[in-house]
Amino acid sequence: MTRKILVTSALPYANGSIHLGHLVEYIQTDIWVRFQKMQGHDCYYVCADDTHGTPIMLRAQAEGITPEALVERVWHEHKADFDGFHVDFDNYYSTNSPETRHYANDIYLKLKAAGLIEVRPVEQFYDPVKEMFLPDRFIKGECPKCHAKDQYGDSCEACGATYAPTELIDPFSAVTGATPVRKQSDHYFFRLSDQHCRDFLKQWTTPPHVQAEAANKLGEWLESGLSDWDISRDAPYFGFEIPDAPGKYFYVWLDAPIGYMGSFRNLCDKLSAISGQTSEVIFGEFWDKNSTAELYHFIGKDILYFHALFWPAELEHAGYRTPTGVFAHGFLTVNGQKMSKSRGTFITAASYRKHLNPEQLRYYFAAKLNSSIEDIDLSLEDFTARVNSDLIGKYVNIASRAAGFITKRFGGKLGTIAGNTLLRKLQDAAPGLAAQFEAREYAKALRDIMGLADLANQCVDETKPWELAKQEGMEAKLHEACTVSLNLFRLLTLYLKPVLPKLAADVEAFLNIAPLQWRDAQSLLPGGHAINPYQHLMTRIDPKQVEAMIEENKATLAPLPSPASGGGAGGEGNHPARHTEKQAHAASPSPQPSPTGGSPHPNPLPKGEGANVGAVAPLVSIDDFMKIDLRIARIVNAEHVEGADKLLKLTLDIGSETRTVFAGIKSAYEPSTLVGRLTVMVANLAPRKMKFGLSEGMVLAAGGDGGLYILSPDEGARPGMRVK
Ligand code: 2FM
Ligand code: ZN
Repeated sequence: MTRKILVTSALPYANGSIHLGHLVEYIQTDIWVRFQKMQGHDCYYVCADDTHGTPIMLRAQAEGITPEALVERVWHEHKADFDGFHVDFDNYYSTNSPETRHYANDIYLKLKAAGLIEVRPVEQFYDPVKEMFLPDRFIKGECPKCHAKDQYGDSCEACGATYAPTELIDPFSAVTGATPVRKQSDHYFFRLSDQHCRDFLKQWTTPPHVQAEAANKLGEWLESGLSDWDISRDAPYFGFEIPDAPGKYFYVWLDAPIGYMGSFRNLCDKLSAISGQTSEVIFGEFWDKNSTAELYHFIGKDILYFHALFWPAELEHAGYRTPTGVFAHGFLTVNGQKMSKSRGTFITAASYRKHLNPEQLRYYFAAKLNSSIEDIDLSLEDFTARVNSDLIGKYVNIASRAAGFITKRFGGKLGTIAGNTLLRKLQDAAPGLAAQFEAREYAKALRDIMGLADLANQCVDETKPWELAKQEGMEAKLHEACTVSLNLFRLLTLYLKPVLPKLAADVEAFLNIAPLQWRDAQSLLPGGHAINPYQHLMTRIDPKQVEAMIEENKATLAPLPSPASGGGAGGEGNHPARHTEKQAHAASPSPQPSPTGGSPHPNPLPKGEGANVGAVAPLVSIDDFMKIDLRIARIVNAEHVEGADKLLKLTLDIGSETRTVFAGIKSAYEPSTLVGRLTVMVANLAPRKMKFGLSEGMVLAAGGDGGLYILSPDEGARPGMRVK
């Protein structure tokens, strides 16, 4: 029976790069979808960028572009990474779309009609300079428990305590550095505490909708009582304005899962053009209350709360179908530890692609993945050893050993096989392997497939085609042995195809066959079938490639061109970030090179060698020092000044305002390399009228006898932060 299946992966935030932590999920999902398609099912895989929220709005402002422009740029970066890793979405869209807006409004209005929306005043911290309410992650201060400085408004990274932002000692806005004030405004709540929601969720949060481990966790949450969910945010906010509430916007997490619907609806428009059915009808087949299609969401365990509580409750009470299953996976560790920028293990998809073959990572992740929520580890040494041993040593080897004889000795044509028990064994493995893929037990499937590859290699070792090739009168035996080998290779390729789609396509071209489907396991290549000459299929991993990648990721510890955020790259919820050492890192969009293209001084002084400088200036008191208001500034524009030999004109964003500064750094910097960079400025220096205009401050730079170097703050700093 042909199943109708709609599959999603979590939507990545539109202000962060895709990294290996993300890829666990996309690879896990893509393998499952490819497997379903090979089974002949009507399976669709949709995703989108998660584009709304405060971090994205502020990040765009900091870059001096519109949120739409930022979202557009990041969409292309994400798409290139997904394509590079062969993650084959049927539609990759954006939540900032008319379709997502339509369904967000629709769901909201239906929940409202059902009496499940309530408006109540909420008091929150407000940045009086930026004139906006501050999400918890944008408020910093001293931890009320352990007194660590510079902690986020929801939790302390030093002692792990969680608290309300109002409990922070000396709170300040991470956007402008200003002291936040308390301010009240009306918020819209989804009444999850309503008895209907509670009863529904109690019965829904059980297997097979969720994994058994997830059901336990959800049970605990339900037991401790569900609070109503605040689904609105006040302007300024990048998102969808609530239909009947001017100045109020849907919180990003309200429209994010609705983005699954939006992306699918957009796909339906395309499907409609080929099928003749209307887009609405196709959509309804998957989302109507009485839909018989299956709907699966692959997610990280940190966003279970949103997908297994809020989301099904929304769907149920707005009259849509609920998910068939929510499949959560664990986090990724690298070499047994959380991904870390300083260790170079916060590896971006783009950087991996530069150094290594994406299918090798797909293989390794698959070899580690199962249906549980356990974390998985990428041990880089084990990765190298396993890929080389399994894929090159065991699998590819089978083809390379047999193909040459077929081409050189038999005109590229296969022989006939007089019954072969090993081939039968491989064919008979198809249903068991299918069951493992279906159950997301990829590690078991690959272990079994490699067991079959071992048997295939043993068979070659015993038959010794290279010896048969030297013996008189053994032509027929050689022909049959090589034909068996290539048939074994074809079956192994078929089973590996969900994991290694590109390699499988190369093998299909080499074997001169149509794209392999799961049912093809029941047939063999016929005698006389002509194959193409063998072409190299995969290269071994050289440990040096891995080392180079790690070094590169250490080298890109550049300042972050993004506002602080948590709960994922653009998140602002108080849920732990996925896959990362620190939330602030997950927030970072920039394990990438800095937008300036790197420092114009790639070779500073050799290690340990001081510059030739004069004596330190006389002492000043701390009070004297504190008179100087140093601020983090983003250089939003830099240009030459006509007629000036030494000066560049800089436009600096310090969060609350922009300043023009004429800086004497022309000898050291090409203006375009400065744009987007963070630096430090003296913000309260009396303005100076210069020949070329008014200079409203000063940029700090190190200098002397070895050139000029403007200062850059460490990652995490934001425009407007005070430096002291
Ligand atoms: O945690 C995250 O990265 C979110 N952007 C995931 C959203 S998934 C879905 F709900 F849209
Ligand atoms: Zn603390």
